[in-house]
Amino acid sequence: MGFPKDFLWGAASAANQYEGGFLSGGKGISVQDTMTGGDGIHNVPRSISVKYADGSTGSIDLKFGSEVPKGAVAYIDPNKYYPSHVATDFYGHWQEDIDLFAKLGLKSFRMSINWTRIFPNGDDAQPNEEGLEFYDRIFEKCNEAGIEPIVTLNHFDCPLHLASQYDGWANRRVVDYFLRYVETVLLRYKDKVRYWITFNEINFLRGYEMIGVTETESNPQKLQQAIYHILLASAKTVQMAHKINKHNKVGMMIAYLLSYPYTCNPDDILAEIAFSKDIKDFYLDVQCKGYYPTYKLKELEREGIKLIKESGDDQSLSEGTVDYIAFSYYNSNVISSKPVGEMTGGNQIGSIKNPYIEQSEWGWGIDPKGLRIALNLLWNKYNKPLMIVENGLGAKDKVEEDGSIHDDYRIDFLRKHIQEMEKAISEDGVNLIGYQVWSAVDVVSAGSGEMRKRYGLIYVDQDDQGHGTLERRCKDSFYWYKGVIETNGEKL
Ligand code: BG6
Repeated sequence: MGFPKDFLWGAASAANQYEGGFLSGGKGISVQDTMTGGDGIHNVPRSISVKYADGSTGSIDLKFGSEVPKGAVAYIDPNKYYPSHVATDFYGHWQEDIDLFAKLGLKSFRMSINWTRIFPNGDDAQPNEEGLEFYDRIFEKCNEAGIEPIVTLNHFDCPLHLASQYDGWANRRVVDYFLRYVETVLLRYKDKVRYWITFNEINFLRGYEMIGVTETESNPQKLQQAIYHILLASAKTVQMAHKINKHNKVGMMIAYLLSYPYTCNPDDILAEIAFSKDIKDFYLDVQCKGYYPTYKLKELEREGIKLIKESGDDQSLSEGTVDYIAFSYYNSNVISSKPVGEMTGGNQIGSIKNPYIEQSEWGWGIDPKGLRIALNLLWNKYNKPLMIVENGLGAKDKVEEDGSIHDDYRIDFLRKHIQEMEKAISEDGVNLIGYQVWSAVDVVSAGSGEMRKRYGLIYVDQDDQGHGTLERRCKDSFYWYKGVIETNGEKL
């Protein structure tokens, strides 16, 4: 009963939201570095600063699949604030943070490597040694503390140069540049890292800020070609990782958007199936089964899209299937065949409000039982080990006069999700190998660019405009989670 003895209790992060250290140690500019912060109070959306071909400038509001027009490129406007440049400064606080992770008792720590720290422009002839050394030190410190690093190779991250000069992932050459980066880090950290994740939330890689491609939604041929290149790069990464070290475990990563039909009307069921295929099943099927499923081939045919492939690609896809499925789980969605009901928020995309569950301050439906459902669906369909690599609650935290932070709402959220995980393991027989709380330390919100939307077990003194001392404080959830890990999930 309960959690397996070697269960990977952990907490997670992502370089573009956590690291900061902008241009330090030879780092280059990533498209993410051109994204402004949003402002939930004044309803200012997160945006990307762009320069058009005629030299004029502007900004594009970010939404799922946000599009930058052809000829325009992202740039950094010196008069604007870009939260990724400092973020919560893991770059300057990595020793202190890993010491705190050791105190917390983490068995694992999920983080990502910043592509532009290793290849500042993406197409450089040589990697940046200073960037490689930065991660050497981090992995060594994790190893010494008995913390297993779980490393995402690409977390919403594309070198700006590849976006502006190559049109990002729409260009096949970017696959080669990515693989050169991957080979560099797989070889360099061969004895320090065992668990790898290829692309974070591969099912969300549709917008310019994540894939560096102009004309995404308006040019479906180009968008589908870019997605194909990303899936191919992921499969080739799996093959390469196994060749470099047969003990490497490589996972895919998906935002698991669990969805319920609005009613038992067959039209709603069909709408839910279509949503699932589009937003999650396709990515899971390709990476777990090794080929494009027939429903996707039919869709491409219907839309007149013809993927440009090279010989050997099909073999790479079929031989590059993943060792485990990593996924994020925050909220569930309700799908209807027609516009009905009140809408609410969610991870990247909104959905119809579910009257049976509560909502977070940001309107995301809180659905712990949905996590058990997701675990069952994934395990029964793919039979691959599962790892939850993001789960947590974005909320405003208050620092009391004595410096304490009583985030009982976060503890409640995590407790309920862990209880459902336990049932999935002990009652349903799901093979769940790890759980990463999002996030270890407070980080910039990916969706809104705010700091006020905090997820961390560890608080960071930093506000939406980048003011703060960056001092760390352990929240009540830190001490609670420490007890969970110590008792292997028995004391919740
Ligand atoms: C996932 C991302 O979509 O959700 C993270 O992988 C992100 O990068 C997390 O931070 C929470 O979303 P948000 O928009 O609240 O930061």
